[in-house]
Amino acid sequence: MSTSQTDETSFVHWMRDASPYIRAHRGHTFVVHLGGELVADPLFPQLVQDLTLLAGIGVRLVVVHGSQPQVSARLAAANLEPRFVGSGRVTTAEVLARVKDATAAVRFDIESQFSHATRVRPLGTTPLRINGGNYVMARPAGVVDGIDLEFTGDVRRIDGRAISQQLDIVDVVLISPLGYSPTGETFSLDALDLASAVAIELHANKLILLSREAGLLDAQGALVRELTPREAREYQRREGSHQQELANAVRACQSGVERVHLLDAGDGALLLELFTRDGVGTLISNAPFDQLRQATIEDVGGIVQLIEPLEATGALVKRSREKLETEIEHFMVVVRDGATVACGALYPFVADRCGEIACVAVEPAYRQFGFGKTLLAALEQRAVTLKLEAVFALTTQAKHWFQEYGYVAVELERLPSARQALYNFQRNSQVLLKELN
Ligand SMILES: CC(C)(COP(=O)(O)OP(=O)(O)OC[C@H]1O[C@@H](n2cnc3c(N)ncnc32)[C@H](O)[C@@H]1OP(=O)(O)O)[C@@H](O)C(=O)NCCC(=O)NCCS
Repeated sequence: MSTSQTDETSFVHWMRDASPYIRAHRGHTFVVHLGGELVADPLFPQLVQDLTLLAGIGVRLVVVHGSQPQVSARLAAANLEPRFVGSGRVTTAEVLARVKDATAAVRFDIESQFSHATRVRPLGTTPLRINGGNYVMARPAGVVDGIDLEFTGDVRRIDGRAISQQLDIVDVVLISPLGYSPTGETFSLDALDLASAVAIELHANKLILLSREAGLLDAQGALVRELTPREAREYQRREGSHQQELANAVRACQSGVERVHLLDAGDGALLLELFTRDGVGTLISNAPFDQLRQATIEDVGGIVQLIEPLEATGALVKRSREKLETEIEHFMVVVRDGATVACGALYPFVADRCGEIACVAVEPAYRQFGFGKTLLAALEQRAVTLKLEAVFALTTQAKHWFQEYGYVAVELERLPSARQALYNFQRNSQVLLKELN
């Protein structure tokens, strides 16, 4: 195959793999925080192109931008020494003038880049429309440790209704880190805090915190992929990097934002995070996989309760409590509020380089929330880690479910001979297989 054919094939595969995500994201509200440093980054045009793509597939996109480095540069040029109390800057009238100046400049750069990104477009299509306005009301942050922060403000109210209405008619709403008070004053706001306040007000599906810093790393230096808000608070206590992002992520998750992504905005990172299963950043989320873990002997009772009714209907093979106890290392569970709401197992056939996915069950009240899918993905990931090349499942009632996740019906002969020997012809299960690559 020539290079261009290989490129075309991988493009086709990529499009197909991305299509479920395109469907899932359409109509969802994403609030994206763009630090001022990103606007000055050489990768900024690519990033805007990726954001344009999101708007193009129907994501309701709100961008909240910062302007910290640009403000610092203007203060330095004017020989104004910034004063801080804790993390808050004292914004005098002189500083505020530079803040407005820098913020306006950043805003124009963003608007211009969005216009540029849509310059090359099929004839007859309209350019991307971006809009801003007086959506943010602010109040003075006040006196901290005896020092008046003057024109540094806190978010008082966000006009979520007006933003939502705008999103019905424009592609992107752009919000600057300034807020106005009913008394007619302008206040400088922290862009990160503002982004999470906007996401909360809009009940956003995602809050995406972009920066040029490496993602959140664990003690071994590996990227932390998923966190519950509780785990995020533990990271905060350790006083490592991303403190403010974590605080905002926890606040947003606790106030109803479904998912918060912490992401190093390297080239293409946003697309990889949003259109591939594993992503490349850190995801902070309440549900559903945040309680997904390896099962322990203490989970046997919960698993028995979950699978007994399914054994009775013939959906699952009967397993005694003793068998579960001896095989518990193969199981993973999803636990919510102390109750086992889903379970599943991977039985490796190492010599045959494959594994059996078995006993996948989700408590009826928790079905259709993606628990099954998440569990299946985790079991497949486990198989990949064990260097298995395929997984198979035997099912009487969930053939289509497996097929939707890439499994194909195969003959019994495709299974390891040891497993074929145990096949129960009376159950007449269908055999489904998925190659892992
Ligand atoms: C199959 C099962 C694990 C799916 O769990 P889940 O958490 O609801 O799955 P997800 O949320 O990831 O997927 C939901 C989607 O799968 C579909 N689905 C669920 N069960 C299905 C089945 N048996 N056949 C076909 N599709 C099914 C749902 O309709 C839904 O699709 P939709 O949103 O387009 O309507 C769950 O229904 C179950 O416990 N079934 C009984 C046990 C069983 O048969 N296990 C498999 C044998 S190992």
